[in-house]
Amino acid sequence: MDTDNIISVQGVSKNFPGVRALSDVSLDIKKGEVHVLVGENGAGKSTLIKILCGIYSPDSGTVYLDGAPYNPENPRAAMEAGIRVVYQEFNLLSYLSVAENIFFDKLPLKGIIVDKKKLYADTADVLKRVGLDVDPSVPVELLGVAQMQLVEIAKAISSRCRVLILDEPTATLSPSEISRLFDIIRVEKQQGLTVIYISHHLNEIYEIGDRVTVLRNGEFVGTRNTGEIEIRQIVSMMVGRQMDSEYPFMDEPRPLDAPLLEVRGLRIAASKHEISFVLKKGEILGIAGLVGSKRTETARAIFGADSKLGGQVLLNGAELDIKSPKDAVGHGICLLTEDRKSQGLILDMQVDSNVSLAALDKVSHRGLINHGEERRHAIHFTDELGIKTPSVAQFARNLSGGNQQKVVLAKWIFRDTKILIFDEPTRGIDVGAKYEIYLLLWRLLAEGKGILIISSDLNELMGICHRIIVFSEGQVAGEVLRPDFQQEHILRYAYRVS
Ligand SMILES: Nc1ncnc2c1ncn2[C@@H]1O[C@H](COP(=O)(O)OP(=O)(O)OP(=O)(O)O)[C@@H](O)[C@H]1O
Ligand SMILES: [Mg+2]
Repeated sequence: MDTDNIISVQGVSKNFPGVRALSDVSLDIKKGEVHVLVGENGAGKSTLIKILCGIYSPDSGTVYLDGAPYNPENPRAAMEAGIRVVYQEFNLLSYLSVAENIFFDKLPLKGIIVDKKKLYADTADVLKRVGLDVDPSVPVELLGVAQMQLVEIAKAISSRCRVLILDEPTATLSPSEISRLFDIIRVEKQQGLTVIYISHHLNEIYEIGDRVTVLRNGEFVGTRNTGEIEIRQIVSMMVGRQMDSEYPFMDEPRPLDAPLLEVRGLRIAASKHEISFVLKKGEILGIAGLVGSKRTETARAIFGADSKLGGQVLLNGAELDIKSPKDAVGHGICLLTEDRKSQGLILDMQVDSNVSLAALDKVSHRGLINHGEERRHAIHFTDELGIKTPSVAQFARNLSGGNQQKVVLAKWIFRDTKILIFDEPTRGIDVGAKYEIYLLLWRLLAEGKGILIISSDLNELMGICHRIIVFSEGQVAGEVLRPDFQQEHILRYAYRVS
């Protein structure tokens, strides 16, 4: 066996009812490398990680750690072996302090009481390693998302950690936070840490990765040195075909001149500015801006999820009275939220019930849900969006992250609204599936709908929008038309430099 390898996965398979999540997968992780794992939604990435960290046990095959068979019975055993994971969903206890979270299972004691002085000093040390400047005694619930992410990492590296696994860590981070995370990874790597990194942002592969492994449909496709492969080739390994462009932009249909949705002088909480813009019929309008530029808050105010302090929302020239999301949906406006788990999806319900959740009238007759109808519609959408599930009777919880996101999309498309507001619609979705979603947006436009997209991925906005407005600190700082789309141009508005 190659002694350069810290982990060697050999012929591992894992089945769930109706799903072959991993099929005879073999791959090696070298000591001290950053190994990026990519693949479409449902390809088996998280399942492989869960095997490494003791949540699942393989049905067949063997994992070796330092050349010896390794089959952790539970997450604790994996931790003791030095394998730590940072999941995209946080596992912090919000009411405990930063220090207590980091040293939760190894609090320093003085006799029988916690040695607070040592606890805070030790915490300050690890916080310095991850570059987080907060008071160790502060409760975690007071931190922002990026800071929580750093606490998770601090927690992982605070005890003997040999392999750090990051499952889609950058989905919620801003560009500067991402580069900070990469700096931390580089430093820890020099100290001998091995990192397994999962991401749907393929450009990150080159920034941080030494090697990349592609999984497709539960199978191992290949491992390459990042210096020897282009994005284009990785994409075709992922999707099993050539993809010429990531973003379909069609000239037809063109937006009509008449405003469909008009926002006039909207005022939202925590901002002293007024927001005004127009969305035309048949248009995809993008909203760009930095994290904290109040894009989500604006969408929520339009949708009635948060209250408005002033201003009007007009649909086809008529003012709407929207006080709650229910009013908004009644007027044909829907919002796909960025936080699919808490706002979009009921994890303990089946896929088909989730799809019809916002349009029960369409599958009911005299108040009774027709389950056959519900099933039929859900099957239509799972085909159209390529939702990977053994059947529509599967619980949403058992779908992979990206496929859950597609179910949320199906739900709102089924509702058949006039205006679709998407907040980070393709976060966590793989390249192939993104493409399918963009095509679907064009079909919706052809029906005369208007689409508003908030995205932190500028390439995505420039790839698919007719027009982009840029938010900065709660105001519309600028508007850019398609022929003028340039990253620099948009960022200048976002940062308000002239
Ligand atoms: N507990 C489970 N029960 C049933 N099926 C499951 C379970 N966990 C995962 N699966 C299925 O196994 C397959 C692989 O899922 P996995 O979560 O590993 O995908 P992934 O590559 O991480 O995808 P994503 O990019 O969307 O996160 C999917 O089809 C998923 O629905
Ligand atoms: Mg996953």
